[in-house]
Amino acid sequence: MTGVIAIDGPAGTGKSSVSRLLGERVGAHYLDTGAMYRAATLAVLRAGASLDDAEAIADTVERSEITLIPAADGGSTVLLDGADVSGPIRSDEVTAAVSAVSAVAAVRSKLVALQREQADESLVVVEGRDIGTVVFPDARVKIFLTATAQARAERRHEQNRAAGRSSDLDEVLAAVNKRDHLDSTRAVSPLRAADDAITVDTSDLTLDQVLDELTALVRSRIGVQ
Ligand code: DC
Repeated sequence: MTGVIAIDGPAGTGKSSVSRLLGERVGAHYLDTGAMYRAATLAVLRAGASLDDAEAIADTVERSEITLIPAADGGSTVLLDGADVSGPIRSDEVTAAVSAVSAVAAVRSKLVALQREQADESLVVVEGRDIGTVVFPDARVKIFLTATAQARAERRHEQNRAAGRSSDLDEVLAAVNKRDHLDSTRAVSPLRAADDAITVDTSDLTLDQVLDELTALVRSRIGVQ
């Protein structure tokens, strides 16, 4: 079985967990495209390029080798120039800089080409912001996950606390709003639902409820068990 199940939406909707678990349930690989933009951002930060300098960002990313390999837990291991950067790409520094890097057109075209290569030959859940609109406009199923900014900030805040990181809910909410704004107003591939996407609001749903809903939807659309 081949084909793409596209899952788009802003941060904090439970998208990553849902995509990974959905992949397990329907026997699909999982491709986390946000991890690729994070690895590109880490390369830019390590190179010391200015986030205002689109050309320097493009050059750095052009020279970097970014690879995603499936991990045992159904997620992905992310390699930057051959080294495992799965941990460092989740740092606050990368999170704060990733919108600037992912707004650069040359970065997007390089990573979109990689994503298309990786999703060539099997059934794959591809998670991102522009999967249903740009990367795979012919995806077999397109899902757009949303949740209120408040609900998303509360989830992130809980995750921070659970991981033992200090966290201030107002600051987290401000960061969520800022990243939403940058991601949805950028000139290249802004975050938006594809016209033919099914939108699911996860504000008042548990992870299991979202997963059940999406599993039923995917099974009915593409006939997998
Ligand atoms: O899903 P995430 O939070 O790990 O994504 C990190 C950033 O990468 C996010 O702020 C927007 C960007 N991104 C993108 O522009 N296009 C994608 N397909 C995936 C992520």
